[in-house]
Amino acid sequence: MRYFATSGSAASRRTDCAIVGLYESGALTAAATQVDAVLGGRIAALVRRKDLNGAAGETSMLDASGVPFQRVLVVGLGKKSQFGRKQYHKALKSAGAALIKSGARDAVSYLSTEPVSDTDSYYRGRLAAQAVASALYRVPVIRSTRQPPKPVLNKFGIAVATRAQVKEAERGLAHGRGIGEGMAVCRDLANLPANVCTPSHLAQEARRIAKAHETMRVQVLDERQMKQLKMGSLLSVTGGTEEPARLIVLRHDGGPKGEAPIVLVGKGVTFDSGGISLKQPAGMDEMKFDMTGAASVLGALKAAAEIGLRKNVIGVVAACENMPSGRATKPGDIVTSMSGQTIEVINTDAEGRLILCDALTYARRFKPAAIVDIATLTGACVVALGAHICAVMSNDDSLAGEIEAAGRRTDDEAWQMPMAEEYHEQLKSNFADFANSCGRDGGAITAACFLAKFTDGMRWAHIDIAGTAYRTGTEKGSTGRPVPLLVDFLLNS
Ligand code: BES
Ligand code: MN
Ligand code: ZN
Repeated sequence: MRYFATSGSAASRRTDCAIVGLYESGALTAAATQVDAVLGGRIAALVRRKDLNGAAGETSMLDASGVPFQRVLVVGLGKKSQFGRKQYHKALKSAGAALIKSGARDAVSYLSTEPVSDTDSYYRGRLAAQAVASALYRVPVIRSTRQPPKPVLNKFGIAVATRAQVKEAERGLAHGRGIGEGMAVCRDLANLPANVCTPSHLAQEARRIAKAHETMRVQVLDERQMKQLKMGSLLSVTGGTEEPARLIVLRHDGGPKGEAPIVLVGKGVTFDSGGISLKQPAGMDEMKFDMTGAASVLGALKAAAEIGLRKNVIGVVAACENMPSGRATKPGDIVTSMSGQTIEVINTDAEGRLILCDALTYARRFKPAAIVDIATLTGACVVALGAHICAVMSNDDSLAGEIEAAGRRTDDEAWQMPMAEEYHEQLKSNFADFANSCGRDGGAITAACFLAKFTDGMRWAHIDIAGTAYRTGTEKGSTGRPVPLLVDFLLNS
């Protein structure tokens, strides 16, 4: 896929498909007006007949069969007064889907010549490439029958209002393409079934990513090495499975030697049955997505390398299965974490925090400038924020603010939740330093409080992606989130 930026009139540029916008009032954008003149007023006629109404995300593919464009895709932009980054991104996602359904080989979008209230040419380019790359993504299906045909689109351009903006837009497109590749890495891994995407498979993928980039290095620890490191908490989760656990360290050395890295820590539970605290059968298949934190870390590192990010970034992935068996950890068992702190395992289904705490302690050795963990950690987060916004909790409000800002810029939002002292008290144990779970109240926050006990002296944030990582129902599948947020954070931190 090739991305490019251009400036100039919509009426004269040759393309397989010109993409223009229409506002909800029926007002044509400037580019739509230029294109409509070439089409002899067909768009305006469709608007008059109310066959086109400009509702946000609505698309209509018109035949232009000729010079300079073969097709025109009219995209609804919603209310003009509300046209901002979110609406722009939504329009591009719809356009991408319509484009891929068509037989168009190349396209030019004129949506970016409209004023978008809260974004610049760089972000218009970035969101465009991100949206198109996302639309091009195909789920890896494992079927005995023929695979669906590959999309034919291979060139996508955006037009910007002035010549001076072309360079910035092109930089945005390049970054958007990197983000798109990172999202595809994340989605591929998350969508794979747990009998394929095992901890060893995640390690293999990390090695493959590292091989493709000069700046990258990978190190994979096995259970013997984890035992030597005294990762008693992580190892207690993998006790019930035959599948070997892995601790994966993937680095991108893009910055000066010795510069403190940003460390991303991912929850990589390749299947979460709940363990002895077994989950209900309904929806249990979705627990193959419980490694999305890990997948998003690998995806963000892939994107960082693709973009050529001039910073040091280290991904630490704790990968294992959570299964019941005669060797599994039992409720009431007490384990000793790498930090030396003891944990009473009240509920074996609160396993994410048990693997993350040892990964966080391990990451101390890198003396991180900031450390961010990403995890499908709690059902309570889904109750609190639903499927649209991630939760972020931190021991540093400025770091949480940076993450929220990165989420807003990339339309991959996160919202800070409080971590007051009172919540910590809920984790008290009569038998160990603290418990791994407590009542349902404030479940996303108490999970973060547990992790906070392992982050003393580090600038740390935790992102709970339980609601945003994947879609359920007929559209079941990984969303690729929060790769865009993470990459924006890396670029701007
Ligand atoms: N992986 C789950 C959290 C989850 C739930 C992710 C739904 C995506 C959708 C996690 O390991 C878990 O089971 N958490 C428990 C914690 C509880 C036992 C304290 C939960 O949320 O019920
Ligand atoms: Mn669980
Ligand atoms: Zn889990």
